Amino acid sequence: MAMYNDKVMDHFMNPHNVGEIENADGIGTYGSPICGDMMKISLKIEDDKIVDAKFKTFGCGSAIASSSVATDMIIGKSVEEALALTNKDVLDELGGLPAIKEHCSVLADHAIRSAVYDYAQKTGKTYKGLEGFDPNEDEHEHEHGCQIEE
Ligand code: FES
Repeated sequence: MAMYNDKVMDHFMNPHNVGEIENADGIGTYGSPICGDMMKISLKIEDDKIVDAKFKTFGCGSAIASSSVATDMIIGKSVEEALALTNKDVLDELGGLPAIKEHCSVLADHAIRSAVYDYAQKTGKTYKGLEGFDPNEDEHEHEHGCQIEE
């Protein structure tokens, strides 16, 4: 466990925002093409602001820690600010993950993006950062150009 810093361990042991929002405004799932793990994010959105976010995952400890901080980071933010969140921001907030686990942090930001996409589809809204977004596109790209570092 020495590979993981205290903040990662803390979010893994006591993750924030676990579960599923009832009557969520947007739901997104993402399956990692690298490890096959799954992430589901549900969002409550009011006046273009993320008022609540929860996650469920069949993912490893690094995915749990990443999603815990990622959901913390987007609650209270505008939808466009949430869309601007990258897995690099999540890694910085966590204080880093071992290189072979960095791909786990991607689950959270992809699932958030796809939950916002779901919301945008349902409401007919458009957001900066969603142009041309296809919830499955990244998965397909990875299927062909996958780099597994483990
Ligand atoms: Fe699959 Fe971490 S999310 S190994």
